[in-house]
Amino acid sequence: MRFGAAKLKTIVEPRTYFIRTFGCQMNEHDSERIAGLLESEGYERAHSPDAADLIVLNTCAIRENADNKLYGNLGHLKPLKDARPELRIAVGGCQVQKDKHLVIEKAPWVDVAFGTFAVGELPRLLADRESGGVPAFEFTEHTDVFPSALPARREQRFHGWVSVSVGCDNACTFCIVPSVRGPQVSRRLGDVLDECKRLVEDGVVEISLLGQNVNTYGRDLDGRPMFAELLASMDGIDGLRRVRFTSPHPHDFTPDVIEAMAGSKTVCEHIHFPLQSGSDSVLKRMRRSYRSARYLEWLHDIRAAVPGVAVSTDIIVGFPGETDAEFEDTLRVVQSAQFDSAYTFEYSIRPGTEAAVMPDQVPAGVVQERFRRLVALQENISLEKNTALMNARVETLVEGPSRKDPARATARTRTNKIVHVPGDGLQPGSFADVIVKAAHPHYLEGEVA
Ligand code: SAH
Ligand code: SF4
Ligand code: F3S
Repeated sequence: MRFGAAKLKTIVEPRTYFIRTFGCQMNEHDSERIAGLLESEGYERAHSPDAADLIVLNTCAIRENADNKLYGNLGHLKPLKDARPELRIAVGGCQVQKDKHLVIEKAPWVDVAFGTFAVGELPRLLADRESGGVPAFEFTEHTDVFPSALPARREQRFHGWVSVSVGCDNACTFCIVPSVRGPQVSRRLGDVLDECKRLVEDGVVEISLLGQNVNTYGRDLDGRPMFAELLASMDGIDGLRRVRFTSPHPHDFTPDVIEAMAGSKTVCEHIHFPLQSGSDSVLKRMRRSYRSARYLEWLHDIRAAVPGVAVSTDIIVGFPGETDAEFEDTLRVVQSAQFDSAYTFEYSIRPGTEAAVMPDQVPAGVVQERFRRLVALQENISLEKNTALMNARVETLVEGPSRKDPARATARTRTNKIVHVPGDGLQPGSFADVIVKAAHPHYLEGEVA
């Protein structure tokens, strides 16, 4: 009996949690919900995995190294679990949605596994694990509860993620996302705006609207995209200063969306505009619906309508069958597009996607060489773009002390550029006008005006 009571005590007491998040903003958003749920269950945040009674890994599956990372991390957690059997390990996110039971087979010391549609189930699964004594899991393929409807513990008081849709109806041949996040499901416009208003009442000045294909928001609701309407409505929220959104698909950047951006005072002068490749034949094999000329036209229209807009992009190098000539096309389009920044990726084979079984996978050495050339080109362009801002006065939102140098603050321009400034007295969430004093490819340095 006494043994039983002692055992029960160690089980009901676990009350601190630690979350590690991988992948995109959608996962950051979901992790804030996971934290919110756990705190509403009485858990408190621990500042390291060693100090936590519950460790949650929120995983990503977009590239192969994301896979390796999950199993590598679980490997590191095994000795911790061996030393403290009462430690609970929960894994969620896209990798778990993809691998399902395999996660528990490969790492039987996992206590709870939950897919992308089961974020809200975590407390129940933890309870099931205690009562059942065996790993608990939920890999459902759909949910009625939008994760945004769950309580959140926000990382930054002044910033809120708001998901407007989840899932993606496209079928880019390289991409795992549709199979782990399902088809697009949008939230009702009223629900999105209500959440935004609540956030602003709670001190938020910057909101990032999220969707895997954010600018087709609403298409699944009443058959027509409502993204322009959503953007336009954001201006009506008193006290909201900045609106961002990610990720749009170039194809759905329709004139009404550009008009809404141009006419808005809150929507920031930055767009993420994923190119993927500059080669028309590669774009076709990727099943991207535009071609390079059309892409550059859109870019031109956006820049004409939104003065000073900064543009970032995603590019994949070494898609199956990519020839030297096709890669040169990418370099040419990058040169002509003049992006402010680019996220460049080596193509990573994702079993289950169409591209995974395409012929002529490009040898790693060739991919790396092309990758280096693309990065070098883009770094030059980014530096030129940033250098053009020398001595300009820019509005920044202070995010907090710089990670490298706590005497400086990290702030962000409306165009999504990082500026480091001497940090004395700069409060996170406050606005500061800054004069740009130095330019680098990935950030600026400045002084408060
Ligand atoms: N919904 C977003 C993409 C999310 S994934 C969009 O359409 O823009 C983010 C980026 O990861 C993609 O834009 C793509 O550049 C990259 N990516 C996706 N699958 C990949 C793969 N198999 N290998 C390498 N990069 C990939
Ligand atoms: Fe993936 Fe394409 Fe959907 Fe983006 S639009 S999530 S790249 S399938
Ligand atoms: Fe990764 Fe899932 Fe986002 S696969 S990039 S965390 S949608």
